[in-house]
Order: sequence, then structure tokens, then C-alpha cells
Amino acid sequence: MNVTEILQFADQLIINKTGKRLDDLQKTVITGVYEGKTYETIAEECNRSESRVRSVGRKLWQILSESLGEDVNKHNFCWTIERVINNSQFYNFGNNQINYCHNDNNESSKNTKQGIKNKLYYDLTIAPKINRFCDRTSEIDTLSKWILNQNTHLISILGLSGIGKTTLVKRFIDLHQQKFDAIVWRSLKFPQSLDLLLDDLLKHHKLDSLPTINDKLKQLFDILTNKKCLIILDDLQNIFIPSQFAGKYQPEYQDYQTLFKMITETQHQSSVILISQEQCPEMECLDEELYPIKSLELSGLDNPEILKNTGLKNKDSWLKLIKLYLTGDKAVEDEMWQ
Ligand SMILES: Nc1ncnc2c1ncn2[C@@H]1O[C@H](COP(=O)(O)OP(=O)(O)OP(=O)(O)O)[C@@H](O)[C@H]1O
Ligand SMILES: [Mg+2]
Repeated sequence: MNVTEILQFADQLIINKTGKRLDDLQKTVITGVYEGKTYETIAEECNRSESRVRSVGRKLWQILSESLGEDVNKHNFCWTIERVINNSQFYNFGNNQINYCHNDNNESSKNTKQGIKNKLYYDLTIAPKINRFCDRTSEIDTLSKWILNQNTHLISILGLSGIGKTTLVKRFIDLHQQKFDAIVWRSLKFPQSLDLLLDDLLKHHKLDSLPTINDKLKQLFDILTNKKCLIILDDLQNIFIPSQFAGKYQPEYQDYQTLFKMITETQHQSSVILISQEQCPEMECLDEELYPIKSLELSGLDNPEILKNTGLKNKDSWLKLIKLYLTGDKAVEDEMWQ
């Protein structure tokens, strides 16, 4: 169970009890406790007094204790939430409503299947937190149209390093998270074989003892068909051979081709976003008119706001720096160094 799930569950309990969502400080306290930090460290990290953080924690545990009908404190909080979720016959925290039932063997066990189907799962642990987001409204609209309206199966977000690919996709998720039953964000910065990636994606599902890659793919596609899932594979270029023609797989990652072909060709209700500096070969040779695939190539942002908080003091240089990045203009570069 990751911190996002714990925050969502706590958020719904708090809404049910108080009518208000978790505020930023409450989220910070829960995240800190989940990470095993002391109140003192949490207070230091968020620039609040320790007494304030303690008091927020005390109130949280009190509300959660009343909601769950058992004693919740800093030391048993994560485990209690996890246990309640796991013992519940049914829960759904995606629509401002939470239902759970502690009974393990009553008649509602027939709802278990339904519960699993409705269970939301978001694993965004390694996705970046976006504090500031400029422009890119047309790109967000385009992604929304492709993924939410047209059920495009495979989308690649392309562009130079630092152009804003990862940021754009995370922003899209922040805006539309609730529209998916499951979201999993994985990075291929240090790539792993398809077999290991499938194990990872299916880690909460019961597998036969020695399933083949085919069994695992079959199970994955059952899920992609029954639920609306979004899988993000960031830094995909690392499975390709460096400094060669775009998108040639390294031999040990050739299997990914099968995954991408299946995502494109089978019927399901989910989407996979590939974030990459290089186009994936499957996408290059398929016609976007005929297959549910789309590519979005990002260009640079011409907005000085993007350089805020970077520590660059001289505002006059911001525009020059942006121009240099967008055009690679040698005259601008020479001028900047003068
Ligand atoms: N729309 C935006 N608004 C504000 N800041 C942005 C925006 N897009 C990108 N940035 C900032 O630019 C930096 C680089 O963005 P990002 O990491 O998304 O690039 P990238 O294309 O994924 O790069 P790489 O290919 O190296 O992973 C980040 O610090 C990010 O915060
Ligand atoms: Mg990136």
C-alpha cells in the first residue's frame, strides 16, 4: 500500500466526518508519518512549529479513531488503515463516498469480487510533484481528447531532454486522476526486462507459480479490459540502443515490442503513455488514422515564468536563455556570455 492510497482513504474518512478535505499540513503530517519521520523532523521540513504539527496529528488521529471506531495514533496509523482496507469487503474511495465493512465471513462476501473490481489503485510514488505549471493548455486538451474521449491505447510524448514531457503527463494525471480505476507510473531510467516489469505491474494479483510471459500478458490485458487503467512508462529511450537510428531496441528489451503491439491491437479500455526522447518503432510504422495510437511532439515553451525559482537572478537574461534554447542561435549565446 503506498502513501497515495493511504492519503486517499484518510481523505475520504475525513470528508465523511467533517465535510472538509485534508489540507496541505494534514497531508504533510500523514506523508511524514508514513515515511517514519518524527513530528520534529516533519515540522522542520515544512517550516512549522513542532507543537503545531503535533496538534494537527492529534486532531487527525482523533477524527480517524471516531470514524473507524478504534484507537488510531501515530504509531499504528498506517497499519490500521492498511488492515481496514484489506479486511473490507467493499470499498470505493473515488467518488466522495466510502463504504467498508469489517466482517470477513458474512453474506456480503459475494460483494468481494465487486469490491476488487471497484478498488482504485494509484501508484504515483515516483512521479514528480508539480508545484508550478505554465502554458501547455492545448497539449493538455489534446491528451484529454485522445485518452478520455477517443480511448487511444498508445500515446507517445516526445521531445528533447528538459522540454517538459514528464511534467506535462503528471499535470494531466493531477487533473484527471479520478477518471481512472488504476494508474501506475514507472520509469525506465534504469530499464528492466519486460518479464520483471510485468511481475511488478501484477504484484497485487495472484499468479500461477511459474507463469510464462504469455500468461502474465494475458492477465495484464484482462485487467486493462475490465478496468480503465493508465500506465506511464517514462524515460523509454533507455530501452533503445544509444547513438543509433531512433528507436532500435537493445536485444534484452526486444520483448517490449510485443507489449506495445498488443496494447495497440487488442480491445481494451486502457491507455499506455510512453514518455521518450526517441519514438518507439511500432508507432513509427503504424498509421494513426487506422490504429488507436497518437504521438505528441513537444516544442519549447516561450514563457519566462518557467525560469522562476531557478535561482537565475538577472531577469533580462531569461528571455535570451529561452531564445537560445528554442533556436540554438549562436549570436544570442555569444551575447549572453559577454
Ligand atoms: N509547463 C511547465 N511549467 C513549468 N515548469 C515546467 C513545465 N514543463 C517543464 N517544466 C520544468 O522544466 C524542467 C524539465 O521538465 P521535465 O523533467 O518534464 O522534462 P523532460 O522532457 O521530461 O526531460 P527528460 O527527457 O530529461 O526527462 C522541470 O524542472 C520542470 O519543472
Ligand atoms: Mg522526463
